[in-house]
Amino acid sequence: MLFSIPLALITLLLASSATARIAPKVFIISMFDPEAEIWWNKPEFDILANNITVPGFSPLFPDAHCTADGEICQLVTGEAEINAAITLTALTLSPSFDLTKTYFLIGGIGGINPEVATVSSVTFARYAVQVALQYEFDIRELPSNYTTGYVPQGSTRPDEYPSSIYGTEVFEVNNELRHIAANFARKATLNDSAEAIAYRALYATNETGGGIYAAGAAPPTVVECDVATSDAYFSGKLLGEAFSNYTTLVTNGTGVYCNTAQEDNASLEALIRAHAAKLVDFSRIIIMRTASDMDRPYPGQEATENLFWANQGAFTPAVENIYLAGVKIVEGILGGWNSTFERGVNATNYVGDIFGTIGGTPDFGPGTVFEGDQASLSRRGMMKRTLKKGKQMKGKRGFVYKLRR
Ligand SMILES: *[C@@H]1O[C@H](CO)[C@@H](O)[C@H](O)[C@H]1NC(C)=O
Ligand SMILES: *[C@@H]1O[C@H](CO)[C@@H](O)[C@H](O)[C@H]1NC(C)=O
Ligand SMILES: *[C@@H]1O[C@H](CO)[C@@H](O)[C@H](O)[C@H]1NC(C)=O
Ligand SMILES: *[C@@H]1O[C@H](CO)[C@@H](O)[C@H](O)[C@H]1NC(C)=O
Ligand SMILES: *[C@@H]1O[C@H](CO)[C@@H](O)[C@H](O)[C@H]1NC(C)=O
Ligand SMILES: *[C@@H]1O[C@H](CO)[C@@H](O)[C@H](O)[C@H]1NC(C)=O
Ligand SMILES: *[C@@H]1O[C@H](CO)[C@@H](O)[C@H](O)[C@H]1NC(C)=O
Ligand SMILES: *[C@@H]1O[C@H](CO)[C@@H](O)[C@H](O)[C@H]1NC(C)=O
Ligand SMILES: *[C@@H]1O[C@H](CO)[C@@H](O)[C@H](O)[C@H]1NC(C)=O
Repeated sequence: MLFSIPLALITLLLASSATARIAPKVFIISMFDPEAEIWWNKPEFDILANNITVPGFSPLFPDAHCTADGEICQLVTGEAEINAAITLTALTLSPSFDLTKTYFLIGGIGGINPEVATVSSVTFARYAVQVALQYEFDIRELPSNYTTGYVPQGSTRPDEYPSSIYGTEVFEVNNELRHIAANFARKATLNDSAEAIAYRALYATNETGGGIYAAGAAPPTVVECDVATSDAYFSGKLLGEAFSNYTTLVTNGTGVYCNTAQEDNASLEALIRAHAAKLVDFSRIIIMRTASDMDRPYPGQEATENLFWANQGAFTPAVENIYLAGVKIVEGILGGWNSTFERGVNATNYVGDIFGTIGGTPDFGPGTVFEGDQASLSRRGMMKRTLKKGKQMKGKRGFVYKLRR
């Protein structure tokens, strides 16, 4: 009798929490305050109607926010890889949500590669690459034939595919969904500023506005190009080029580095694991990054001037454009829910991580590490593969294999 009352209460609570599970159609992922607040107090929907405290969220951002009907929700991860990975993991394990049909809209700002796009633009990634997950030397201690101090793990040259792989190096999301999202975003009139217009003009290296940074000097648009993740907030031409080279390398030539941010690979790793546990659908992820600043100086400018002192004028437009472009995507998904999105958008590309964790054969990297289904993976399996592929580098961390040449 002493136990039975609390037990009955717990059962009741469990039952009511089970019936109260929120099944959002769109979950907006913001990383810090400005990216989050741009969605608040808008005419299209009230995302602050229902706040749900989720254990494991950032102490700075303890709540998920949802519309009253639960169709649209938002969370704030906190910045950089650790915050992103833990917050997304906490969300996917939360009993408050049913995320099996949810579309995740990562909507954040980032630095932009002026070889590919410009400030105030809106970019959509197919690949997310953890670019700084590499060996790092100070370039001053390297022989003169090295162009960068970053060397892929398990390799000895910057242009060698990494042979020690942790599994988070590259993620690939649904390319069909990316096209659909970009086309929704193209319905938006993008924000810009007088300062941003003046700043990007400095990237034109010839009279006709052309040159290596022609895209950086042209007006902002919606661009489909890829995102880098790095805890290190890198800046400058040489690191930009080194990580651009690395993106091309690890995606076997398909990826085009254009936007740099500090979270996406981490968020994607959490969502891959949740997909493997049948908690989310990894083919329902949109990575949208708007461009708040140039990742490198214009010709003749100091790299530190570009990062520390120059008024690039694009922070506010980039934040505005998260909402302006993003709301078209939210409306597009909700409007097409019955006809298209509830069922899902079939991917025609490989979708997943470098290990092949959720099935399929990656179109980059050494190929799946799983023989048959995921259940067959074991440390032994990995060792066997390692041995099959060749000798290991001694004393190195990670999943080491030798590439066939
Ligand atoms: C939800 O949280 C936001 C931000 O902390 C707050 O502005 C809003 O009033 C809260 N909503 C409710 C219904 O309490
Ligand atoms: C630099 O030269 C050394 C010695 O010839 C060679 O072992 C190394 O692979 C070279 N590195 C690069 C990046 O070319
Ligand atoms: C991050 O993810 C992207 C795409 O998923 C991948 O290409 C990249 O290698 C990852 N980067 C790191 C450092 O894990
Ligand atoms: C951009 O947004 C700002 C802030 O909301 C607004 O004042 C400005 O008029 C907008 N500019 C354009 C070109 O849309
Ligand atoms: C300017 O650069 C573009 C390449 O972006 C090139 O096609 C064009 O010929 C260049 N014009 C001049 C005058 O150098
Ligand atoms: C990037 O790759 C190109 C082509 O291999 C090479 O010329 C360039 O030096 C590399 N840049 C850096 C910074 O490593
Ligand atoms: C979608 O289907 C639901 C349930 O069948 C229905 O209530 C709703 O009106 C439909 N929405 C549209 C836009 O057709
Ligand atoms: C998507 O793929 C599934 C499984 O292969 C198939 O049954 C379905 O008809 C496809 N949907 C569309 C819209 O092509
Ligand atoms: C990617 O490139 C590496 C290094 O050249 C190669 O070993 C691997 O087989 C390639 N993967 C795919 C899927 O083409």
